[in-house]
Amino acid sequence: MICIGNIKLPDFPLLLAPMEDVSDPPFRHVCKQQGADMLYTEFVSSEGLIRHAVKSMKKLDIFENERPVGVQLFGSDIDSMREAAIVAEKVNPDLIDINYGCPVKKVACRGAGAALLQDIPKMVSMTAEIVKSVSAPVTVKTRLGWDDSTLNVVEAAERLQDIGIKAITIHGRTRKQMYKGDADWTLIGEVKNNPRIHIPVFGNGDVNSPAKAAEMKNRYGIDGIMLGRAAIGYPWIFREIKHYLATGQLLPPPTLNERLDSCRTHLLKSIEWKGEKLGILEMRRHYTSYFKGMENFKETRLKLVTTDSYAEIMAMLENIGVRYAEAV
Ligand SMILES: Cc1cc2nc3c(=O)[nH]c(=O)nc-3n(C[C@H](O)[C@H](O)[C@H](O)COP(=O)(O)O)c2cc1C
Repeated sequence: MICIGNIKLPDFPLLLAPMEDVSDPPFRHVCKQQGADMLYTEFVSSEGLIRHAVKSMKKLDIFENERPVGVQLFGSDIDSMREAAIVAEKVNPDLIDINYGCPVKKVACRGAGAALLQDIPKMVSMTAEIVKSVSAPVTVKTRLGWDDSTLNVVEAAERLQDIGIKAITIHGRTRKQMYKGDADWTLIGEVKNNPRIHIPVFGNGDVNSPAKAAEMKNRYGIDGIMLGRAAIGYPWIFREIKHYLATGQLLPPPTLNERLDSCRTHLLKSIEWKGEKLGILEMRRHYTSYFKGMENFKETRLKLVTTDSYAEIMAMLENIGVRYAEAV
C-alpha cells in the first residue's frame, strides 16, 4: 500500500495527470472507470480562485465517486497561493497539489509553474505556507530543473519533504525542453533512491504502453506512475498497464463496443456537467482519439464534430457500431 498522508492507494498506483482542458470531471470519470487510482483536476489559477472567478471555481468541481482526487493550484505569489489553497480546501479534496512544472510562457514567464525551479527558497516558502494553512495533504508536481545546467530536483525534493509535503511527482524533462525530446527518468530514480527521501515518488513522462510502464517501474523503483497524454482518448491504458504488471500478459485492445460505451459515457457526463450546448461542443476534441486507427473515418468524424444535436450524435455512434462491427 502507498500512503499520501491519510490517503491509502494500492501498491504501484497509476495516477491520471492534471491536464488543462482535458482532466475535467467527464474525462476523469472514464479514466476512473478504467482503473486510474487517483485523479487530479486541471491546474487552477490561484489569482482566479481568490477572486472567485467563475472559470476557476468551476475547476474545483469534484465528485464523491472520483475520490481520491486532488486539486492542483498554480501561481507566483505566496499570499495568493496560501489564500487559494484555503478556498480550494472548502470543496474537500483529498489532497492539494502544487504545480511547479508548467513550462508554458503565460505561466512560467509570470513567475509560476516551472519558474519556481529557478528560485528554490521561494518554492520552499510557498509550499511551507500552504502546508501550514490547510489540513489536507499537500503534494508537488515538478520537473527535473529549469534547464540542463540547473537540474535541482533532488535538492528541491529534500527541502520540500522537510517542510511537510506528502508526495512528489516528477516529470522527466526540464522547463527548457517543454515537451520535446525524450523524458529522462535518471534523476527521478535518484530522488526515489535517495536514502533521505521517504515520501512516495511518482514518475511521469512518456509512459504510453504496459511495457514502458514495467520498464520504468523496474529500472527506477518509483512508487507509481502518472499518465497524461497516453490516456487522452484511451482510458484503457490504465487497465492495460495494471493487467500487465500483475500478470505479464497484454490485454487485447478495447472492443468497438467498449470504445463506443466510453465515448457515450464521456459525452453524457460532459452534458451533465456543462449543459447540452457546451458539453457537446467540448466533447468534439475527443472523438478523433476515441476512434483513432479506424479506416475511412474522416467523413463520420466531420459529422460528429459539426452537429449540435445530441440525438444525432447518439444515432451516429449507433451507426458506427453497426458499420464498423465487422472491421474491428
Ligand atoms: C494538454 C495538456 C495539458 C496539461 N496541463 C497540465 C496541468 O494543468 N498541470 C500540470 O501539472 N501538468 C499539465 N500537463 C503536463 C502533464 O501533466 C504531464 O506532466 C505531461 O504531459 C507528461 O506526461 P505524459 O508524457 O504522460 O503526457 C499538461 C499536459 C498536456 C499534454
